[in-house]
Amino acid sequence: MVERTLALVKPDAYARGLTGQILARIEAKGYKLVALSVLTPTSEQLSEHYAEHAEKPFFGGLVQYMSSGPAVAIIVEGHRCIEGMRTLAGSTDPTTAAPGTIRGDFGRDWGTGTIENIIHCSDSPAAAKREIGIWFPGENSGN
Ligand code: RTP
Ligand code: MG
Repeated sequence: MVERTLALVKPDAYARGLTGQILARIEAKGYKLVALSVLTPTSEQLSEHYAEHAEKPFFGGLVQYMSSGPAVAIIVEGHRCIEGMRTLAGSTDPTTAAPGTIRGDFGRDWGTGTIENIIHCSDSPAAAKREIGIWFPGENSGN
């Protein structure tokens, strides 16, 4: 099966009405949207999703930000889409993310102390498989 990855349009982007533009960029790149879901992430889902960050000082703020409102979970499909989506998203800090990337074009520092950065994308095949299982239980992860 072709590679799949998990993307989340984060609550800041959903609230600002950027979902359509973000989906358009993923489609313009040539990847397929194979599942979409609008949902408000629960702290249980986020604790699983961001388990690697559980001990970090920013974890509480991250969970608060990510559960602050609706988000869009997406399964993206295409050859090398894990790497490709990370490239489309840009680097973590939206202030310094390159223009032309989703974070570079749509994100900024709001002075809240939490990095609000528009989109999440899985960073490896193992992460994609695990994360697809969290947001789309029952869907084939493809990896
Ligand atoms: P993501 O997992 O959301 O796709 O982002 P990423 O790989 O670029 O960054 P990662 O290191 O995995 O961090 C996950 C999310 O946590 C927030 N963060 N805040 N205050 C901080 O120092 C800090 N560091 C990370 C961001 O929202 C980041 O996307
Ligand atoms: Mg990450």
